[in-house]
Amino acid sequence: MGNVNVISGVHDPSGARARAWAVLAGFWEEAGVELPPAPAAPRVARDGARPNAVSNVPQAAMRRDAGPAGQVTETASPASVDEALARVLGTSTPPRAPPARTLPAAEGAVTDAALEARSAAGRAQSIEALAQEIAAFDGCPLKAQARRTVVYDGIAGAPVLVIGEAPGAEEDRVGKPFVGPSGQLLDRMLGAIGLSRTTNVLITNTIYWRPPGNRKPLEPEVAVCRPFLARFIELAAPRAILLVGGTAAETVLRRVAPISRLRGQDLAITAREDTPPIPGRATFHPSYLLRRPQDKRLAWQDLLQFEALLHSLGIETAGRP
Ligand code: URA
Repeated sequence: MGNVNVISGVHDPSGARARAWAVLAGFWEEAGVELPPAPAAPRVARDGARPNAVSNVPQAAMRRDAGPAGQVTETASPASVDEALARVLGTSTPPRAPPARTLPAAEGAVTDAALEARSAAGRAQSIEALAQEIAAFDGCPLKAQARRTVVYDGIAGAPVLVIGEAPGAEEDRVGKPFVGPSGQLLDRMLGAIGLSRTTNVLITNTIYWRPPGNRKPLEPEVAVCRPFLARFIELAAPRAILLVGGTAAETVLRRVAPISRLRGQDLAITAREDTPPIPGRATFHPSYLLRRPQDKRLAWQDLLQFEALLHSLGIETAGRP
């Protein structure tokens, strides 16, 4: 009976299901969905073996079953798990994605490295000086494994700022953002609405060093670079911003929400509390579009809306090819 998941009543030799549940419950909590207090610990089987314990399971979801050897343990059927999940989330099953929420300003611990980043960023009075501060900064562990610090490309003072995620292999080699395959697609996307990094666009990323194996940046890596990004936006002072991909959108907007929800919305991007918001839009990351070309039509809609935003702000573009 020790291998039976106390939550689902399903054979779970590795405990993977229990761990998945714990991660799921944690995810909802982090996403701002209030869970009831953790229930009392599951009853210990009579032989003293403690069943796989998972917290945050509503007591009501549990039922008492007699195990094969007459042991009493707390179990729940898969259906009751779904019901319980629906109850704690206040939704019907299956649970829907959580609503977007604004992250609290003082999210997480402010580390020494983040404080150092903040003061280095504050010293910079131009994009070039900021790039030098970033290159000299040793507070992000990714730097040790990267070949180059990658900060920006394009025209300083351009009306349009594009913000991506993180350098990849080619960017790490060359030292400029978006020069690999996804950069080539980005250039084509921008070109389709008369934008280009050689005339009217500035491009940067959420972090400045390539994560190993091109993995998604971790939250602490993003957090430590955040003061630099905020200062970059402030110094670049663009008139409109295009966020490409979920990492850029979540970081800049301080909202936990899928890119599919953030795209299609008029966004107001604030670099600092005391500066006026900059209008913007979010769209899919080009590397995602390379993997899912069928979504390019959605990205095209986003680009047309971004083009309309630029024109409504009086920003001239080169027109469509
Ligand atoms: N992906 C990004 O988000 N940025 C780059 O610079 C390259 C790939």
